[in-house]
Amino acid sequence: MHIPQNSLATRISPNESNEAVEVISVTHWTRNLFSFRLQRPKSFRFNSGEFVLLGLPDAEGKPVLRAYSIASPSWDDTLLFYSISVEDGPLTSMLSKIKKGDGVILKRKPTGTLVLDALRSGKKLFLFATGTGIAPFASLIRDPSTYEAFTEIVLVHTCRMREDLAFGKLILDLRQKDCLLKDLNIQKLKYFPTLTRENFVNEGRITDLISSGSFFRDIGISSFCANTDRAMVCGSLDFNKEMKTILLNAGFEEGSISNPGDFVLERAFAG
Ligand code: A2P
Repeated sequence: MHIPQNSLATRISPNESNEAVEVISVTHWTRNLFSFRLQRPKSFRFNSGEFVLLGLPDAEGKPVLRAYSIASPSWDDTLLFYSISVEDGPLTSMLSKIKKGDGVILKRKPTGTLVLDALRSGKKLFLFATGTGIAPFASLIRDPSTYEAFTEIVLVHTCRMREDLAFGKLILDLRQKDCLLKDLNIQKLKYFPTLTRENFVNEGRITDLISSGSFFRDIGISSFCANTDRAMVCGSLDFNKEMKTILLNAGFEEGSISNPGDFVLERAFAG
């Protein structure tokens, strides 16, 4: 792997668990949203929906690491990540400046609960995200297992502005070309974007649209059905808390890998 001499990553001493991997490409979607693709080390295995620790060294050479959901599916040769850039964020302020050929530290222990194995079998899968919380779902909606496990999938993404939806739309488009999905009915995925700070066909926070009933009317159902519906949630702490209350009130039970349930949640990482 080539790491430029002046790269931040040259200060990292690579070893098995703390290795710098090469940046293949970076896309800036908005002033504060970007995605980047890393080379996938040959021995690196993960399940679609999991997260991993990645980072960069600070000015003293000490690694600054954060958990990031892997936004590419487990079959992909590369690793995709989607991030917000926070001006004074210890990691994202540095990460938003990375370029092709730079190195990023990748810890080798992926983990997380937004995986199919943490859910009981069901029929309809709801994926509820706000902001960069769409990253683990970007992975899952390109994984054949998701389409094999559920008869219907509803991807819900609440963002502030229209431009914040661009990354999710790219992923939806990429699915059309995924060879592994070509014999599966990917039309069973319904996409339900909502915007909170711009006029749009679906306006408002998804939590409010669920509470008012307009979400159910729009997707053509009367309510949640805990017997056959399953859900994954990824967003801010408040969003997760509110969605958890909504789902518990609808009769869903929270699951984990060791004890699969009707819904699972995880915080979208930032900072
Ligand atoms: P809002 O514009 O009303 O704050 P952020 O950019 O702050 O991460 O938020 C991403 C999206 O998630 C925004 O549209 C925001 O709506 C929405 N959001 C933030 N908190 C919640 C919450 N507790 N429940 C539902 N949506 C939320």
